[in-house]
Amino acid sequence: MDKLINKLQEIISNSNQLVAFTGAGISAESGISTFRGAGGLWSKYDPDIYANVNIFMQDSSYYWNFFKDERYPILKKAKPNAAHYALVELEKQEKLYGVITQNIDGLHQMAGQSYVIELHGNTRKIRCLNCEKIYAWNEVYNQLEKELPPRCHSCGGRLKPATILFGEPLPQRALDEAVIAAKECDTFLVLGSSLVVYPAAQLPVIAKENNAKLAIINMDPTPLDNIADIVIHDNVSRVLSKIKK
Ligand code: APR
Repeated sequence: MDKLINKLQEIISNSNQLVAFTGAGISAESGISTFRGAGGLWSKYDPDIYANVNIFMQDSSYYWNFFKDERYPILKKAKPNAAHYALVELEKQEKLYGVITQNIDGLHQMAGQSYVIELHGNTRKIRCLNCEKIYAWNEVYNQLEKELPPRCHSCGGRLKPATILFGEPLPQRALDEAVIAAKECDTFLVLGSSLVVYPAAQLPVIAKENNAKLAIINMDPTPLDNIADIVIHDNVSRVLSKIKK
């Protein structure tokens, strides 16, 4: 392991434009379960029902029960962990250009990260599909005991989380910024993602195609391990704690 850590250290030390790409694995130590693999959220909740935009538009009560019973209680009490703070430190050292995240938990921002590209939105914001009014998630959560699915107080419209459900296109601006970051970086650091969901998982490939070094730190093997310059199958916090900033 030390040889791998030394190699990662060298890659990060030699980098002038480092970009981090994070998935659910980086928030696992904040008490938020990942989606896939043993004990993953999708083994408990079928994503084709609880996280699909077509089902949501037909009957959003599936999603709102999932939000009420599972997501909000856990995300609400989650705090950033050492891995989130290690990225903030790299940004302060002007080593890290920014973080591209698939996570909707807002923990990077809570840790103090200034440049975060949210590919899959943020669950702390809820939007009215009719008048676009934005609500804070706790406001809507408190409404769910009385009214599920929740309605907009202003226009009576339907409310939807500001997150990307399966079947929905990614926010164009975020995707554009992420592609530019992947193309212009010299080191692309994947932290805690299974790299099976597209178009997000295309970004490490884009970085590699543009001559960046690709580093993958993930507990389990990923489909992109074979194109990476370094792969460490270990805990993100443990690995980042060994990297001198
Ligand atoms: N350190 C390193 N890796 C970890 C840790 C940890 N502490 N804990 C879990 N992992 C790894 C697992 O091995 C797994 O491969 O994190 C990965 C998480 O993979 P997924 O659960 O598939 O999460 P992610 O890649 O972020 O999913 C992508 O899919 O469900 C959608 O929209 C959702 O953004 C999500 C997208």
